[in-house]
Formats: sequence, C-alpha cells, structure tokens
Amino acid sequence: MSSLANEPESIVSGIARERVLVLDFGSQYAQLIARRVREQNVFCEIVRHDISVERIQQHEPRGLILSGGPSSVYDQNSPQCDPGLFQMGIPVLGICYGMQLACDALGGEVQSTESREYGRARLSVASEDQLFVGVPGEMDVWMSHGDQVSEVSEEFIALARTESCPFAAVRHRELPVFGLQFHPEVTHTPQGGKLLENFLLSVCNCAGTWRLEDFAEQTVGEIRTQVGDDRVICGLSGGVDSAVTAALLSRAIGDQLICILVDNGLLRKDEQAAVIDAFEDHFKSQLRVVDAEDRFLAALEDVTDPQEKRKIIGREFIDCFSDEAEQFQGVSFLAQGTLYPDVIESGAAKDGPAATIKLHHNVGGLPEKLGFQLVEPLRDLFKDEVRRLGLELGLPEELIWRHPFPGPGLAVRCLGPISRPRLEILREADQIVVEEIKDAGLYKETAQAFAVLLPVQSVGVMGDNRTYEDAIAIRCVDSDDFMTADWTHLPYELLARMSTRIINEVKGVNRVCYDISSKPPATIEWE
Ligand code: XMP
Repeated sequence: MSSLANEPESIVSGIARERVLVLDFGSQYAQLIARRVREQNVFCEIVRHDISVERIQQHEPRGLILSGGPSSVYDQNSPQCDPGLFQMGIPVLGICYGMQLACDALGGEVQSTESREYGRARLSVASEDQLFVGVPGEMDVWMSHGDQVSEVSEEFIALARTESCPFAAVRHRELPVFGLQFHPEVTHTPQGGKLLENFLLSVCNCAGTWRLEDFAEQTVGEIRTQVGDDRVICGLSGGVDSAVTAALLSRAIGDQLICILVDNGLLRKDEQAAVIDAFEDHFKSQLRVVDAEDRFLAALEDVTDPQEKRKIIGREFIDCFSDEAEQFQGVSFLAQGTLYPDVIESGAAKDGPAATIKLHHNVGGLPEKLGFQLVEPLRDLFKDEVRRLGLELGLPEELIWRHPFPGPGLAVRCLGPISRPRLEILREADQIVVEEIKDAGLYKETAQAFAVLLPVQSVGVMGDNRTYEDAIAIRCVDSDDFMTADWTHLPYELLARMSTRIINEVKGVNRVCYDISSKPPATIEWE
C-alpha cells in the first residue's frame, strides 16, 4: 500500500524494497512495461515523466525505465525528464522515445526518419552485452516510431541494429544507461521478456523476489499497523476486487471488519442473493445488507451526464456507509478495492501520470470530506494479479473469474436517464448475454460481456404491428489488464441467439447491436 499522507523521507513500503520506476512519456505501453517488470518478480510503479531527482531518490529505485511516447524530442513541448537522473548511478533503460531522450541528453542526435516504422523488424546483435545474454544473435523485434537516433556520441556503444535502424540498441560507456529503439514489452518481440529480465536482474541487480504471497503477508501486517484496534467497514459489490479486499482484511483484523453490501438498485439480476451466498460460505466477518434503491434512484433522477452519475453515486455510497458506521463504535476506516489502473486513470497517483481519463467513483469521485481514512490494499496491483491473490487467499474460482462490474453499476450502462423500468429492461437483457456466453463456454475466455441500454428508440415490426422501442447494445471484450481491449469475435450463431432471445424475451426491446470498437479509442463501458 502506498501511503500518501504525512510522507516520510523514504516512501518505500515493506512490500517493495526492490522497486523499479517506469517514467511515462505518454506511451500506450507504459502499463504493459509495468506488468512485464512485475512478471519478473520485481515491484514496479509508473510515475510522471518529469518526476524530480529528489523524488526519485525517495522511491529508492533499483532501476528506471523511460517509456516510449508519441512526441519528438525536438518538439517545443515534448515531455522531458529531469536530466540529472542519468547521473544518479541508477541503471536507466530508455525505450523508443525514452532512448531518444537519453541519447539526446548525453550527446547523440535524433532524426526524423523518412517513413515512420511500424511493425516487425529483424534485429542483429552486434556486441555481447549484459542486456543480450541468452538471446539469439538475430531476432524479431517490434518497432513503432517516427524518429530514431541517427548518431551517438563517443560515449555510446551500438549494441544492435536493424536494416533501417543503425542504433536499435545502445549503451553508455561509463553510465549505466541503455536504450532500445524497439519495444521489448510487447509480445511481438518474443525475446523482450528475456531482455527485461537481463536489465532487471543483471544490470539493476534485482533479486526478483517480489511475490504475491509476500504481498499478502506483508499487506496483512500493514493493515494491522494502520488500523490498530479500530474497526473497518468494507463495501462488497460481488466483484473480485472487493472480495479480495475483504478477504485480506478478514485475515488481518477478523471481527473488526464489517462488510456492507449496498443494494443501490443498480446491481445485476439476482446479485444481492449471490453476494450473500458467497459471503456466508467464505467469510467469518459480519455482513450487513443495506436496501438503498430508493435513495440512489431518487438522487439519479433526470441525470444523464456520466461523470455526474458517478459523482452522485460516489456521494450516496459514502453517505450510506456513514449512516451504517454510526451504528457501530470506533469505525474510522473505509476499505476499498481500488486497483492500480483506477489510480492511474484517475490521475490520483502521487507521482503518476496526470491525465484524468474517467472519474472512477472509488477514487476521483470520492467526496472531499470523507470522514473515513481509506484502506486500499490492492492499490498497487493489476486485475490479473488480484485474481491470483484471490486464489492464493482461498476464494472460490467462480468468484475469482467473475467479470468485473463497475462501481456505479448499471447506471453507466443505462445511457440517458435512469429509471426502474429502464433498469429492468437492462437487467433482463444483461442476464441473457451472460447466460449465453456461459453456455457457449466463453465466460472465462472473455474479459467482460454485458448489455447496454441505449437512449434511442427505433422502428420495428412485431407480428402485424409497428413498434417503436428500445435498442440494446451487446459489449463483449478481450483484455488482459482492462487498459486496452479488443472486441471479442463472437461466433455469429451466438450473436444470433442472444439477439433473438433479447428481442423475444425482453419486453420493450426491438433491436440489438454488437459493439465492435476496441479500447482505445473507445472505452469498455459506454459511459
Ligand atoms: P473503461 O470503461 O474505462 O473500463 O474502459 C475499464 C474497466 O474499469 C471498469 N470501470 C469502472 N470501475 N468504477 C469502477 O469501479 C467506475 O466508475 C468504472 N468505470 C469503468 C470497467 O467495467 C472495466 O472493467
């Protein structure tokens, strides 16, 4: 857990003595780099590109990775790093734009190439080096750049080249600074994992000892220290994040934990019963179910703006929790299953990249005067890491593999105004989508599958009558980390079955569409 308040000189917590920082220069791959580093059992955090040398020192990193990015180093407003970081003695790996920046800072020249180079290239390794130990002399790599380094100073050694790129990999003679023009983090660079391993283990001297088991053990200890004898309330949503959060807390503080399920009227069909069943089977703490449908729907009446919906829901959640907490003595903490991508996408990480993509209600939408201190034990993890942790903690497979469900629930899938009848239509359609995906054996393979109720009506014909009714969109995506996603190429027969069933069984719907947008540029949810 990263603590943001009253920061001490060093901000390194017990879970991650050995950490690497990824400086984000606007790369679509920064998250992927962080993931790949963790796959090497080294803890990793993404930070702003302009983080100061002093601040870097406080993180005590073993290594720095400068990500790629869409800019050219010579653009007027191109993102720069603190130039002092190259002199810190901490190993630096610049990738693509990151390499160009390093070479530019240390006396090289970067040039725009005639044609931008995207795709596979054949790399020839020219010099034996720590970075290339254990990889073949020739290999495929993935390029995605406009500029490239055209000349390096005497201080640099060329380590590898491709046909069109003479400095595809370089290292500095004196300083522990390395550069790769290609992307080792993507799967299209099959040896990329090995190159990152070499950087982390040989160059940065990491031991690669970060494990999720350690994470669980140390986090339990940290929770105990943070909470003391106080009580914690934890909202359960039925999703894996809140379940794993509750499981960690339950292990750490037992009956000091009070779990609360707020039925806000925005849950999926039969969700309340499913959460209660799972809870009774697997947790020893107490569970309170709050029926808050009227309160939420009243607050959401006539609201159509997605951010506004999120804010209202966040506020109502906290009010519900406060009301509940008043009934107990000594509750001063609220636990949330906030994940790393939520923190990053909300721009809430202390040193994280700044852009706010979406207001996640469990981070950015929190009312300022919360009244609780937050316990967010999953704040540093990606979704797949949370799932592995859940299995580690003994949670059942069916809970672990449940598709994620957004905190604001069906509100962000019911486009336009929210009302009981519209939610009812959405719930029925959603149930059919999920049932059909499960029957086709595709539930675990797909990352998320759900229905969206559109704010449009269209003409149809049913029997002899003309209809003018709602349209449902089906969204089904493949994704590893939910930062990027592609629409799932579902079989036509399955789509046909879903469409027929929705139109026949859900009163008020006469049209079904399939969403074939990837993320980016679209997001997974429609709002
Ligand atoms: P997007 O729509 O941003 O979603 O591509 C990425 C993942 O996050 C979930 N999501 C949310 N989760 N509060 C949450 O707790 C939110 O406001 C929220 N919005 C999106 C989404 O379901 C997907 O898994």
